[in-house]
Amino acid sequence: MVDSYTNVSVDKIIAEFKDVKSGLLPALHAIDEKYKVIPEEALVKLSQVFNIPVSQIYGVATFYAKFAVNQRGKNVIRFCESAPCHIAGAAELVAAFEKQLGIKAGETTLDGKFTLEFCQCVGMCQEAPVFTINQQPYFNVSIEEIPEILARF
Ligand code: FES
Repeated sequence: MVDSYTNVSVDKIIAEFKDVKSGLLPALHAIDEKYKVIPEEALVKLSQVFNIPVSQIYGVATFYAKFAVNQRGKNVIRFCESAPCHIAGAAELVAAFEKQLGIKAGETTLDGKFTLEFCQCVGMCQEAPVFTINQQPYFNVSIEEIPEILARF
């Protein structure tokens, strides 16, 4: 379950890391873990606490595919776009999910239920193409199985 964002709770999370050497990344992880997004207010607060320009904090948050600065859906589907998965036909799976959900990769369904994203290799190249739903890996999935998989969520 994703908690609602509040300034008080995000301040508390950031405070836990303010005296930690290189505490920015652990703070981003902790915020992401709790809210599944790095809210703009958190970027500003992180900037103040770590004395780093907001633009640099934003750069770090958007560099790592794990972090999102825009609200994600309840379930996050991530397609590996590294070469082995690409060669094994990831694009066809992505297109099938996009068609089924009525969104493009990088978008969230209007009901907030699903977000489609790309990611780098998840370490299961021998099973390519691989995607994850809420970090659970899926492989050997045919296009015909997609509706049944989505129905589980
Ligand atoms: S390349 Fe896709 S899991 Fe490794």
